[in-house]
Amino acid sequence: MYFREQPILQDIDAVADILLRSGFFNDEEQKVGVSLVRERLEQGEKSLYFFQFAQEFADSKPIGYSCFGPIPGTKFSYDLYWIAVDPNFQRQGIGAHLLEHSETEIKRRGGRRIYIETSSQPLYQPTRNFYAHHGYILEGRQTDYYAPQDDKLLYVKWW
Ligand SMILES: CC(C)(COP(=O)(O)OP(=O)(O)OC[C@H]1O[C@@H](n2cnc3c(N)ncnc32)[C@H](O)[C@@H]1OP(=O)(O)O)[C@@H](O)C(=O)NCCC(=O)NCCS
Repeated sequence: MYFREQPILQDIDAVADILLRSGFFNDEEQKVGVSLVRERLEQGEKSLYFFQFAQEFADSKPIGYSCFGPIPGTKFSYDLYWIAVDPNFQRQGIGAHLLEHSETEIKRRGGRRIYIETSSQPLYQPTRNFYAHHGYILEGRQTDYYAPQDDKLLYVKWW
């Protein structure tokens, strides 16, 4: 597996494809996910969006990625905005590597708390297990935030 940080133009299509194929994100969410790659390409690090891309080989397209960044107005807190792995490549440890590489980079940049928001829907149970397995603690819940019966859950990890 090959990992890289710097986004390239082709990542726009690759990210769109991963988000679509995951079956987890609606149209609007897919558009937001892709727009963060675009913003980063246009503004560089000033966008405050940072990435990790996973690909099988150095010259193949990404099969998973994460996007994170410092939360404006906070001293040491980061958000993990997105993490997704192509369904054909899930449960092979790629998500774990992406998360670990993101955490390492956040630490290197002085981050001390990482926040992740996710949904309470049954679809996201494996995702919630994944975060718990990696040491994230459920710290908050906003009832019916996304929709009736669909709460927003806030996970955090710190050191
Ligand atoms: C959440 C997500 C990024 C995890 O990626 P992944 O590559 O499947 O993650 P991993 O393979 O590292 O771990 C997933 C599970 O597979 C298991 N696993 C890892 N390697 C394995 C292997 N070789 N054989 C069998 N199981 C394995 C892990 O133990 C892990 O279980 P856990 O969740 O209880 O920790 C991925 O499932 C995904 O894209 N989900 C849809 C999008 C999503 O929910 N994103 C987050 C939005 S908030």
